[in-house]
Amino acid sequence: MSETAAATPAVATIASLAAHEGQTVTLRGWLYNIRSSGKLLFPTFRDGTGTIQGIVPKAAVSEQVFETLKSLQLESSLTVTGKVRADSRAPSGYELDVENIEVISPVSADDPFPITLKEHGVDFLMEHRHLWLRTPRQSAILRVRATIMRAASEYFDTNGFIRTDPPILTPNACEGTSELFEMDYFDSDKAYLTQSGQLYIEATALALGKVYSFGPTFRAEKSKTRRHLTEFWMIEPEVAYMDLEGDMQLAEQFLRHIVSRVLELHRQDLKTIGRDTAKLEAIIIPGAFPRLSYDEAHAMLEEAYKAGKIENPHKYGDDLGSPDETYISSQFDKPVMIHRYPAAIKAFYMQPDPKDPTKALCVDVLAPEGYGEIIGGSQRVDSYDLLKQRIEEHDLPLAAFQWYLDLRKYGSVPHAGFGMGIERAVAWICSLDHVRETIPFARTLNRIYP
Ligand code: 4AD
Ligand code: MG
Repeated sequence: MSETAAATPAVATIASLAAHEGQTVTLRGWLYNIRSSGKLLFPTFRDGTGTIQGIVPKAAVSEQVFETLKSLQLESSLTVTGKVRADSRAPSGYELDVENIEVISPVSADDPFPITLKEHGVDFLMEHRHLWLRTPRQSAILRVRATIMRAASEYFDTNGFIRTDPPILTPNACEGTSELFEMDYFDSDKAYLTQSGQLYIEATALALGKVYSFGPTFRAEKSKTRRHLTEFWMIEPEVAYMDLEGDMQLAEQFLRHIVSRVLELHRQDLKTIGRDTAKLEAIIIPGAFPRLSYDEAHAMLEEAYKAGKIENPHKYGDDLGSPDETYISSQFDKPVMIHRYPAAIKAFYMQPDPKDPTKALCVDVLAPEGYGEIIGGSQRVDSYDLLKQRIEEHDLPLAAFQWYLDLRKYGSVPHAGFGMGIERAVAWICSLDHVRETIPFARTLNRIYP
C-alpha cells in the first residue's frame, strides 16, 4: 500500500467489508448501540447497509476518542476509522478495531433517541416510524422490498413487456365504488384516486401487445386487517390474446422469479428478519403451483368445517373470507391458485366462463403459510354488448366508461392480466404479521402520520 493510501483510509460500507479485510477503512454512519466493560468499549455502528461491532480498548485510542465514544448518545452520526478483522463469531463475520472517530452530529443526552433496544408497543413504533426505520430489522425489510419491486419489473422488462404508466387521477372506479377516494377536480368534476391501473393498461395492451404498470393505488377500505392499506403499490401485467390459462402461467413464472431473486440476494437480511428460508426454497423447486376451482375450494372448506378445522362454514356463492384463505393456503407449500369464482361476487370486467357463465374466468393467488391473496387477475370481457350490460348492472356511469367500451368496438381481442400488491408480497416473503411494516410509511384507516 502506498503511503498516501495509508494516510487516507478508503471509505467503505459495512456490506462491502469482506473486500477490505485487514485494511483500515472509514465508515460513515450512526452509533446503533454501545456496551462497555471497564477499559473496553463495544460500540455497534450502522450505516444503512448493515451493522458492525467495534472494539475499543482504552489503551488503543486517544483519551479523547475513548471518552467521546463512551458518552455518545445512540443514533448520533459519526464517521469511524478502524481496521477490519474477520471474526467468525460476529453476525456479519467481521469486527472493527476502532482507531478514530469523528462525531458529525451528536444526539443530546437531554433528548435521547426515543426508540431503545427494549420492546416498544406497535402504536409507539408506528408513531415514530420515521425513526423506527433505522433499526436493523426494518432496514432489512425495506431492502427486501426494494428487491421484490426490482425483480417484479425486471421479470416483465426482460420478457417483452412495455411499461405503460396509467393515471392516478381518474374519472371512474375500477374495483368497487364503495372504496373510492373522491376529490374535487376543478370546476364541476369529481376525480378519484386510482384503485388499479388495469382499465388503462387494457388500452395500452391493445396498442402494444404486452404491457405492465407499476405504481401506487388507493382503496378507501374501511377494513382494519393485517392485510389492508389505503395506499399500496401494485404491479399489473396485461396481455392481448392471452386467456385465463396463460394468465395463471404468467403469475406462476413471475412469482418464482421474485422469490429466487430474494433468495439469491438477501440471505443475511432474511436471517435478520427471522425468515425461515426453507419455506421460500419450496416455492422455486420444480413443480406447478396447485390449482383449485372455486367449487373445489368450497368443498375443501366444507371438509375442514366438518373436521372442526375452521370455525365458520363457508357459504357457497360467498367470497372466501380471510380465515378461509388462511386455511386453504396453509394446506400447500406453494402458492395456490383459485380460479373461476362466482361471477356475481367479482368485478364487472371479468369474462364469464363459456362452460358455466355463472363463473368468472378469474384467479386469486393465495400465498402459503396462511398469507392469503397476493394476486388477483382475470380474463376480461371482450364483447361490447356484454361489457355495456355489466356496466349498467353495476350502476356505473356509462359516460365515464365510454373510452373503455371503445376498446371492445375497435378490434377487441381476448385479453387478460393480474395485479400483485407489493406489500402483501413483502409480508409473505419476509413472514411479517402485518402489512404496516412492509412499506416505509403505511397509510391505514386510522393512520396518516408521520
Ligand atoms: O384483487 P384486486 O382488487 O385486483 C385488481 O385491482 C385488479 N384490477 C388487478 C388486475 O387484474 N390488473 O387487487 C390486486 C392485488 C390483491 O391481490 C392484493 O395483493 C393487493 O392488490 N391489494 C391490496 N394490498 C394492500 N391493501 C389493500 N387494501 C389491497 N387491496 C388489494
Ligand atoms: Mg382481489
